[in-house]
Amino acid sequence: MAISADRIIAIIAVAVAVASLCCCIYHTQSNDSDEEVDEYERISHCVKQIRECTDMVPEVAIVLGSGLSTVVDRVDVETVIPYSKIDGFPVSTVEGHKGNYVFGKIGGTDVVIMQGRVHYYEGYSTQDVVLPIRVMHELGADTIIITNAAGSLNYDFEPGTFMLITDHICAVDSPLIGPNIDELGDRFVGMMNVYDPALTQEIEDVAADFGIEMGEGVYVQYAGPQFETAAETKMFRLWGADAVGMSTVIEAIAAQHMGMRIAGISCITDMATGMSDVSPSHEEVEKMAKKMSSQLAQIIDELLSRYNLSEL
Ligand code: HPA
Repeated sequence: MAISADRIIAIIAVAVAVASLCCCIYHTQSNDSDEEVDEYERISHCVKQIRECTDMVPEVAIVLGSGLSTVVDRVDVETVIPYSKIDGFPVSTVEGHKGNYVFGKIGGTDVVIMQGRVHYYEGYSTQDVVLPIRVMHELGADTIIITNAAGSLNYDFEPGTFMLITDHICAVDSPLIGPNIDELGDRFVGMMNVYDPALTQEIEDVAADFGIEMGEGVYVQYAGPQFETAAETKMFRLWGADAVGMSTVIEAIAAQHMGMRIAGISCITDMATGMSDVSPSHEEVEKMAKKMSSQLAQIIDELLSRYNLSEL
């Protein structure tokens, strides 16, 4: 019996569809399990290399934003590990951004400090960006203080003001997208009180004792690297944000996933676009951050000297 050309084409089309569906299912499944193993293995690989340089178990992790390096001067340094020496670690491509883990003591507390971070806008995935946070947790840190330089979306917060982050808005991809890393935390993570109210209050109290008034507000992270437009500023303000920047939120999400106690401090370095008649610039941000850096160092030093964070 002769089969018509139409039939042959139809049979081939069905066969191709079934084959590609099978391929797709197989590909997805194999990818899922590969990635799951790989990311945790990558974290463990970084931890192992660090453990060859130091056996310190940090209590507190600190992330320093651009221009905020002065905090490191307060550290009784034990070990410095450049990110570039850690195989598998993301390294910042931005001029002026340092890249070191600094291990040591501040006020008797064992700390690990990230002197510089990588940003999503550099082309790294959100998973890459949070790898250093995950590594610090795996080294032992259960508290994290995340700092940044930010643009003000609130006329009460002029450049030179500190803002304690009380909540955030994530306007970039979550770092938790993809297979869950079960060793670190649950698939679905609660996001209530991400920024620990007791720790936040302690920071505010310490600052007040130095005569430094800190505001409180919501921080929004967008991707960058371009500064926001005036229209975006308007939108962020309507969303309820008080400060804007290109970091912190995805790090806080990763830390929350692992159950860390989190505090966030924004150093307001400029007014966001459209809030004044000057456009934000990298130079201005760095200049103001450097100015604010010594006060930030003073606050963190006193916080870690005065309190036993594990008892908060
Ligand atoms: N916009 C975005 N990111 C920033 C700003 C800003 O005004 N200032 C510091 N980081």
